[in-house]
Amino acid sequence: MASTNYSLLYEQAQSLLENESDFIANCANLSALLFSELADVNWLGFYLLDSNRQELVLGPFQGPVACTRIAIGKGVCGTSAVKGEPVIVDDVDQFDGHIACDASTRSELVIPLIQTSASSSRLRGVLAVDSQVLGRFTPADVEGLQRISQLLINKERYIK
Ligand code: SME
Repeated sequence: MASTNYSLLYEQAQSLLENESDFIANCANLSALLFSELADVNWLGFYLLDSNRQELVLGPFQGPVACTRIAIGKGVCGTSAVKGEPVIVDDVDQFDGHIACDASTRSELVIPLIQTSASSSRLRGVLAVDSQVLGRFTPADVEGLQRISQLLINKERYIK
């Protein structure tokens, strides 16, 4: 499996987001960039925390149609959201409660989007990446995508 040049991808993302502050537009463009540059990925996109704070709602993505709402704590996305930590799933069949939006997905990586201010932090949503390859994601993917996700988060002013 080809490894991703995250230094280059970070620079591409930085340039892409540089002159735009709209969060949804940046999610849309970032999902297109990452989907085009990451090998062996069949779905990539954002689930954003609903105003009810109980669910993640489908946001901009690339790939086949997907489920629109995921309860916090459910599936890989909801687990990452409730833990506030990245979740790597090497084999989705071994993940209890996996939500199979695309039957061809074999492994997943989900990264929480957490906005922080001087006094507090809040969950904005998650970035979900699916692969048709078992064990596709590594700690290098987590670090690289966390760093790029921070660009997106930092572009949106944290409103309490
Ligand atoms: N498989 C995810 C649901 C989102 S699809 O991957 C687009 C989960 O278990 O949370």
